[in-house]
Amino acid sequence: MGRTEKNILGKENASVIVDLLKKAYCDEMQIFHYFWYIGINMEGIGLVTYAPTLKTQATGELTHAELLSNRISELAEKAPSDPAVWKTQGNIGPLDPAQYLTLRAALEKGLEFEGKAVENYNNIAKKALEVNDFVTYNLATTILANEVKDEQHTEDVLKNLEVK
Ligand SMILES: [Fe+2]
Ligand SMILES: [Fe+2]
Repeated sequence: MGRTEKNILGKENASVIVDLLKKAYCDEMQIFHYFWYIGINMEGIGLVTYAPTLKTQATGELTHAELLSNRISELAEKAPSDPAVWKTQGNIGPLDPAQYLTLRAALEKGLEFEGKAVENYNNIAKKALEVNDFVTYNLATTILANEVKDEQHTEDVLKNLEVK
């Protein structure tokens, strides 16, 4: 951690922020894989209509993970590297994308994740502001804006889905 930032944040505050960032990293990696896997293996109508969108969405989540990882490094730690940890230390828990391969199932589960992400980044932004960590605050609000867009988009598609 940079010397000046270390002085401003303090060890305790920095570790609270790092924990939140690590949790978010676990979520992003799981959500990335969820969208990526379904984008490749989708079944039925979704395969020809929505799979490419899911792959794009997946790379968006991967970018979030990278931003989080960079910030975790700046705070002198490392993002969780073991995929087994992503299931236990994130907010999502065990997740098997293969169970959501139809269009409706994929979107409904996806909507759940985006909603969770909106809540989480909202919390991280609040916490960061509380401890004067403006860099994390900026990061959290940037990702939050993406997640709000993701949630709205998924909601709109689901609402107008003509497949029952
Ligand atoms: Fe994300
Ligand atoms: Fe998202």
